[in-house]
Amino acid sequence: MTDIGRRRFVQGALGTTAFLALPGRVVARPQAAGAAGSLPDRYPPIFARFPHLLHGGDWNPDQWRDEPGILEQDFALMEKAGCNTFSVGIFAWAALEPEEGRFEMGWLDDVMNGLAKRGFHAFLATPSGAKPRWMSEKYEEVRRIDAQGRRELHGSRHNHCFTSPVYREKVRTINARLAERYKGHPALSGWHISNEYSGACYCTYCLAAFRAWLKTRHPSLDALNRAYWAAFWAQKFQSWEQIDPREAPMDGLQLDWDRFVTHQTVDFMKNEVAPLKAATPDVPVTTNMMTFFGGLDYWRFAEVCDRMAWDAYPQLYGDWRVAASLSMAHDFYRTMKGGLPFLLMESTPSNTNWQPTPRLKRPGQHRQEMLLAVGHGADATMYFQWRKSRGAFEKMHGAVVDHEGSDRTRVFQDVAAHGALLRKLDAVVGTTVRPEVAIVNDWESRWALGLTQGPRQGQGGWDGRFDKEYIRTLTEHYRPFWKLGIGVDVIESLSSFDRYKLVVAPMLFMLKPGVVERLLAWVKRGGTLVLTYLSGIVDETNIVFRGGWPGGGLREAAGIWAEEIDSLLATDTDQRIVAAAGNPIGLAGEHPVREYCERVHPEGASVLATFKNDFYAGMPALTVNRHGAGRLYYLAARPAEEAFHDGFARGLVRELALTRNLDVELPEGVTVQKRAGGGRIFLFLHNFAPREQALDLGGLRLVDVADGTVLTGRVTLPAYASRVVEKA
Ligand code: GAL
Repeated sequence: MTDIGRRRFVQGALGTTAFLALPGRVVARPQAAGAAGSLPDRYPPIFARFPHLLHGGDWNPDQWRDEPGILEQDFALMEKAGCNTFSVGIFAWAALEPEEGRFEMGWLDDVMNGLAKRGFHAFLATPSGAKPRWMSEKYEEVRRIDAQGRRELHGSRHNHCFTSPVYREKVRTINARLAERYKGHPALSGWHISNEYSGACYCTYCLAAFRAWLKTRHPSLDALNRAYWAAFWAQKFQSWEQIDPREAPMDGLQLDWDRFVTHQTVDFMKNEVAPLKAATPDVPVTTNMMTFFGGLDYWRFAEVCDRMAWDAYPQLYGDWRVAASLSMAHDFYRTMKGGLPFLLMESTPSNTNWQPTPRLKRPGQHRQEMLLAVGHGADATMYFQWRKSRGAFEKMHGAVVDHEGSDRTRVFQDVAAHGALLRKLDAVVGTTVRPEVAIVNDWESRWALGLTQGPRQGQGGWDGRFDKEYIRTLTEHYRPFWKLGIGVDVIESLSSFDRYKLVVAPMLFMLKPGVVERLLAWVKRGGTLVLTYLSGIVDETNIVFRGGWPGGGLREAAGIWAEEIDSLLATDTDQRIVAAAGNPIGLAGEHPVREYCERVHPEGASVLATFKNDFYAGMPALTVNRHGAGRLYYLAARPAEEAFHDGFARGLVRELALTRNLDVELPEGVTVQKRAGGGRIFLFLHNFAPREQALDLGGLRLVDVADGTVLTGRVTLPAYASRVVEKA
């Protein structure tokens, strides 16, 4: 039985209400249930017997087998770099099984033994990210069929079918071999499953699996036709076999396909993990993910991973706003497993070779990027890659060891300095972040909004989907809290809201079953919910609610009716949100908007701000309504500038008396993040500005964990400085 298809009873937010999931649906996340008290104060280290922060990265000794002496040089350099953990064998299938059924693992024995000898750890990879050529040739089904029906060529990577029985069998076999050979090996500390799962295949196996999966979600073909609004343009299906996900423009069908791709990838991963867990049940498994990649609902992977891990290639380049967006991603990877420290599995120690202008890190920036991750809950800072390859696609990609080959490079020295610092941070291991604020990042809702034609066209995104700026919008709501040094969890709509004082749910377009009930029960008990334009429009099948927006029961609770949504032209620059005089959250001034404005009627809510111009001048732009002991805010437009978000967030912080990590004025570009546990509190102070900035700590005394310096009174932070301090 699969995850999504499993029937579940979940203890809901009220503690007394059980939400019944219909077949094919998940209505609440079990791990999220429970109050703050039931969550661990401190977590175990990633590797049970290694109570230190992990440091290291992707290492590809399989590429260097023809170059004698490199292995020994690598081991010596690893020690100098203060590294302790390496991901090995990620794309090594052709080296591990050069011919079908002939396994060559002697070279990997040398690698594993060498690591063990020095007390290093391996995240041993399953090699499924790149299949060997003989396999593509002999079993063409392992190669994907693209949306145009063409079988892909062998080359490249990440281009295998997730359903092919042959591929699944071959993966199980090689994984079982690896697990059997290295179980109990002192270097085997974790499993790195495949690499950056992504993409889809439209072969007959995949289409058949899709149709079978659809039957678990839709009780009958009639129900499916209703869910897809298939009467439109004569689209009704008469048989399951007629269903093809490549058929535009049925957005309900597209949405189910997106869900299925996630389901099938998770299922593929389970197939990978099964032989590993059978042989090595205590070795943690993870897979490396890509920020907020639009193609997979990462929430569903949290159930298969022992730890979450991701690959971060920010273009920080001295821009603190990028640092804030990066932080939101770190917070997301921590939140996916309820606060469990995650791994920054890949990052570049220098620059990449694929960004448009891969600028070198300025002095201080490497340490800062790494400590930013640690401050948000990473217990590992790892790189792509350890040694720079001499040929092929990534020969110009930053690495710890450059082609020059020594420890004398600036990059190596930066890495070694970071390694030395990490050794002083053992006390941070397993501590976590327990925010009072959460922001909702819901993949299915994002997909539904992106797939819906209108109310205006999407902007596209880095992942090529029309996502209507969902992630950017989340970032804009997140940033003010980061600037104030207030921790934020990044949850989904199925998460429990219990432990938060404030939940911000921008553009929560889709309301899945049970979400409104749980949200409102939480608000009634005192929670504060922020909703925005384009919220509560469709149910889980992407069918619009009747009875006015925001639907599904939110209209009554929010005390407003959003009658129409206006789509602004780029030249419509004069519309403004005007704060009402004496509004209780202290919002001031006028704020320009972009793209979306709704015509909202108050139905009981108080109006905190109105629109300035056009035919809806004077209508509400921001409202609040009481609901039980809590409140619902509704923002009816997309603010164009940060000042609105800053003012709104500051008002909420005051009203809810939210705790800041450090109660001092923070200059622009400076943030303070906090990890706590086991009775200790660590603060991560960062100055992302390219110039020195000062903080006034007053009488507060903070102790620098690295060198014992006491910080008090006026403290300066040089450009790109980060310090880890302990609060007494
Ligand atoms: C990652 C990938 C690595 C490497 C890296 C380069 O997305 O997992 O294998 O290609 O990018 O930045």
